[in-house]
Amino acid sequence: MDPSWLWLLFLSVPQVLLEAQPAELHVEVPENYGGNFPLYLAKLPLPREKTEGQFMLLADSGMVTEGPFAVDSESGFLLVTRALDREEQTEYRLQVTLETEDGHVLWGPQPVLVHVKDENDQVPHFSQTTYRAQLSQGTRPGVPFLFLEAFDGDEPGTANSDLRFHILSQTPTQPSPNMFQLEPQLGTLALSPIGSSSLDLALEWPYQLLVQVKDMGDQASGHQATATIDVSVVENTWVPLAPIHLAENLKVPYPHLISQVHWSGSNVHYYLESLTPGPFDINTEGKVYVTKELDREAQAEYLLQFGAQNTHGKDYAEPLKLQVVVIDENDNAPVCPPRGPPISIPELSPPGTEVTRLSAVDADAPGSPNSLVVYQLLSPESEEGVEGRAFELDPTSGVVTLGAAPFQAGQSILLSVLAADLAGEEGGLSSTCEVTVLIKDINDHAPEFTTSQIGPISLPEDAEPGTLVATLRATDADIEPNFRLMDFAIEAGNVERTFDLEWKPDSGHAQLWLRKNLSYEAATSYKLVVVVQSVMDLVGPDPGPGSSATVTVLVEKVVSPPKLDQESYEASVGVSTPAGSLLLTIHPSDPNSSPLRFSLVNDSEGWLCIKESSGEVYTARSLQGAQPGATYTVLVEVQNADEPGLSSSVTLVLRFLKAWPTPALPPAPVPVRHLCTPRQNHGVVISGARGVPDPASGQGPYSFALGSNPTVQRDWRLQALNGSHAYLTLALHWVEPQEHVVPIVVTHNDQMWKLLVRVVVCRCTVEGQCLRKVGRMKGMPTKLSAVGTLVGTLAVIGFLLILIFTHLALSRKKDLDQPADSVPMKSVV
Ligand SMILES: *[C@@H]1O[C@H](CO)[C@@H](O)[C@H](O)[C@H]1NC(C)=O
Ligand SMILES: *[C@@H]1O[C@H](CO)[C@@H](O)[C@H](O)[C@H]1NC(C)=O
Ligand SMILES: *[C@@H]1O[C@H](CO)[C@@H](O)[C@H](O)[C@H]1NC(C)=O
Repeated sequence: MDPSWLWLLFLSVPQVLLEAQPAELHVEVPENYGGNFPLYLAKLPLPREKTEGQFMLLADSGMVTEGPFAVDSESGFLLVTRALDREEQTEYRLQVTLETEDGHVLWGPQPVLVHVKDENDQVPHFSQTTYRAQLSQGTRPGVPFLFLEAFDGDEPGTANSDLRFHILSQTPTQPSPNMFQLEPQLGTLALSPIGSSSLDLALEWPYQLLVQVKDMGDQASGHQATATIDVSVVENTWVPLAPIHLAENLKVPYPHLISQVHWSGSNVHYYLESLTPGPFDINTEGKVYVTKELDREAQAEYLLQFGAQNTHGKDYAEPLKLQVVVIDENDNAPVCPPRGPPISIPELSPPGTEVTRLSAVDADAPGSPNSLVVYQLLSPESEEGVEGRAFELDPTSGVVTLGAAPFQAGQSILLSVLAADLAGEEGGLSSTCEVTVLIKDINDHAPEFTTSQIGPISLPEDAEPGTLVATLRATDADIEPNFRLMDFAIEAGNVERTFDLEWKPDSGHAQLWLRKNLSYEAATSYKLVVVVQSVMDLVGPDPGPGSSATVTVLVEKVVSPPKLDQESYEASVGVSTPAGSLLLTIHPSDPNSSPLRFSLVNDSEGWLCIKESSGEVYTARSLQGAQPGATYTVLVEVQNADEPGLSSSVTLVLRFLKAWPTPALPPAPVPVRHLCTPRQNHGVVISGARGVPDPASGQGPYSFALGSNPTVQRDWRLQALNGSHAYLTLALHWVEPQEHVVPIVVTHNDQMWKLLVRVVVCRCTVEGQCLRKVGRMKGMPTKLSAVGTLVGTLAVIGFLLILIFTHLALSRKKDLDQPADSVPMKSVV
């Protein structure tokens, strides 16, 4: 529900009640009424029928009033009995009732408000009859310097009390008759524009103003009053202020008076406005204080502004400005720049190279000695024995340059520099600044071999490819790992790329490997020139001789110890074998091998001798003392003729046989070209001489040997007859009858050649004739062949007889029988 409804409801209740209680009656009475009294004011709203009763008039307080009001009981008019003064009482509140004599209320109570209507009967008056004011020269026009006050007792808000101020006169009237202006309604006195501009020209004596205050507003009528104002013009003390210099960190009691401003006019109120906020204050007398210590480094200068105001907050004049300059004290030490990463300077940088520029910052006043910083190098100090300093420092600029002293790559130097203010004078403040300088490596060292000559290194001819030959080590004096990387190369001597190198750039060594088969015949030695160089570009001097090394490789010829055709040799020999008989020949396994040299090691009996070059073993003397059936073992040493150090030995076992009946000198060997099988006492004489006359013939003996074919060796036996001839016989009892070609190697005077001897082996007649094959006898036998057949038949009979006898004879001495093959041929012959 709308609350206004409630309100209306609430109001309607007294309205209903007031139906019985009549509305208040408003009556106005003019003040100071000058007519006859009683003055009838208003007829009371009485009921129509005439009622006998008595009017009672109550004042607001409830007391029965004694005047000046009354009710005419005849007419029922409210009347006033005398003149009223509004200034005494403005309003009267009355209650009128009609009562019976016994006090019974017949009508009323009727409230009545009597208002006394103001009459302009009051004269305005000034608060003072004489005002005094000091007027400072320089006061701006329109800024009031005096506030007039006047009062009027008439009803406020009406024209009767509406006051206006006016200047009636001004003495003196120089330099202008209108020096001042008075605000008519407010009564504020100020300089007029012309007054302001000409006040400086004013006379020495004060001005006197006659001023008026008048009521009734701007109407011409009205009451008025006057007052005088004495205005003394005073010199303007509101003058610009010289800057104040104030030491920072000043130790004085605070607040500390630093200045004073003064407005010489009256009614002044000072204020401080800090254009640069700071600890300053001003009091009512215009004294300016600093309230605490100042710090130049926080604020070096302040600009303050002071104003002089009238009581209504208007500035009399332009505010004054005051500059406060804080005087520096050397309260700040130089501050080193923050320590950064080390400064890298390349190795070998020339003296004078700028390393860094130190700039310590001093917070004290710039341009003053307090902030004048000079530098001094504390460390490193120049070392003894070293020419010049490592670093030079310019004391004023702080520039650090390289000195004459040398550096090493990787060196880290801590520079310690004293930065002092007051230009280094005593009493100044200082700090120690530190800078680390790192000497950066450059690739100025070439890698060098630790050894320039390697070897000679012996490599056997049969060394396999993939053999490590040598390891070459090199060093690099640089520090930076990249600058130590190396490349190797074989520059010269690597014939047919027999060798190669393997390396890792960062390992500091290279391996020389054999890559191909060596051959002593092709090259007996190699001289390899290996060079090493830096992988990165080299700065500075060219590589020296240390960057190359020579590897000498010698190829060793591989010679194996002599090899023989048999692991051991054995021969049977009759104890009566004469001296000089050939027993056997020791052959190398490979006839083409290098020449051998034979010797007997422990022939303690002295029975044997051996031909040094051919390996033929002879009896040296008669085998006196040899027992049949016994054996005699001799060690034969075989040496390589070219490499005497290479030797081997072989055993030779002689088996002694019972003395073989010395056969008669063999019939002169029949120079047949056929031999019988089974074997007979025949041989083929072979001449060593060649068909072509040999100019050297006869000078030395010929020597003969069978060809190396094992079958030939097995089937045939060759004996030396004398210096120029040999005798070829069957070695076996039975050799296949056919034509044989026997290879015989003849050596003479260091010459050797091969003879191919054609020998027909056949079955023989008793006479040693070849038996012809039956198939060949075709047709009639010739006379000769008939005789031959007869002789042959007889011979066969004889042969059979011989066989029988021989068999008998042989079976008798069966225990002594020896294989015919093992009988030395000589003895058989
Ligand atoms: C090197 O010699 C070995 C053994 O004598 C042989 O087997 C091989 O084939 C040879 N290599 C070359 C490349 O001649
Ligand atoms: C010669 O030396 C061999 C081997 O040492 C030995 O068997 C043999 O009996 C020795 N011969 C003589 C005659 O001393
Ligand atoms: C060697 O013997 C052969 C055959 O018996 C003979 O013809 C030759 O004259 C002899 N030579 C010498 C130098 O005795």
